[in-house]
Amino acid sequence: MFVLILGPPGAGKGTQGEILAGRLGVPKIATGDLLREAVRAGSQVGRRVKDYMDRGELVPDDVIVRLVEEHLNREDAATGAIFDGFPRTIAQAEAVDQLLNGRGARLSHVLLFDVPEEEIERRLLRRSALGGRTDDDLPTIRRRLSVYQQSTAPLVAYYGKRGAVHRVPGMGTVEEVAEHVRHIVGR
Ligand code: AP5
Ligand code: MG
Repeated sequence: MFVLILGPPGAGKGTQGEILAGRLGVPKIATGDLLREAVRAGSQVGRRVKDYMDRGELVPDDVIVRLVEEHLNREDAATGAIFDGFPRTIAQAEAVDQLLNGRGARLSHVLLFDVPEEEIERRLLRRSALGGRTDDDLPTIRRRLSVYQQSTAPLVAYYGKRGAVHRVPGMGTVEEVAEHVRHIVGR
């Protein structure tokens, strides 16, 4: 099963992706997490992407696609994966099609997490106050939201044309949202 999780920053993609991946027994491929790991490690990729992330801008597609491909090639992703925060551009969505086609696989579900902006700001500011991420200050949160609207929201129509998008109301407790996801995915 290959499941995509789309949604604005702070919508709960990581939280729910983790739960779903555990339940399905497939890896979660979260580009944001992979990039932060690269930054921490000070690798060549990490040095290339740090400024984009600190500004809340998207990292160039070629870096992202290479990173995802590397993880899809691992044995644990042979039968499925949860993509969290990827794709974020039409070019990345086209790359997903190619990567999966090349493996004789296809997307099972596209989940779109829907959370109002006031709640997103509340969640991310709370995380920031608890010593969370460096991109969780208010101006950067707002920049991430606007980048989402501009570059990623068009994917809703892209996948909508294939009738593949399931809207998940992201409000409510983590357990309630997880239950909703379980209902959609059927497992
Ligand atoms: P990324 O790491 O993907 O961040 P994001 O999508 O902007 O936001 P989050 O990861 O914070 O949100 P989330 O939806 O995962 O929510 P979470 O579960 O954490 O990307 C970071 C940066 O990397 C980008 O800005 C870009 O620079 C780069 N990047 C990454 N992928 C890229 C790509 N494909 N292309 C180009 N660039 C890319 O929850 C958020 C908070 O809310 C947590 O504190 C959580 O505990 C809490 N929470 C979760 N669920 C609930 C709930 N139901 N009720 C209350 N609180 C909740
Ligand atoms: Mg996340």
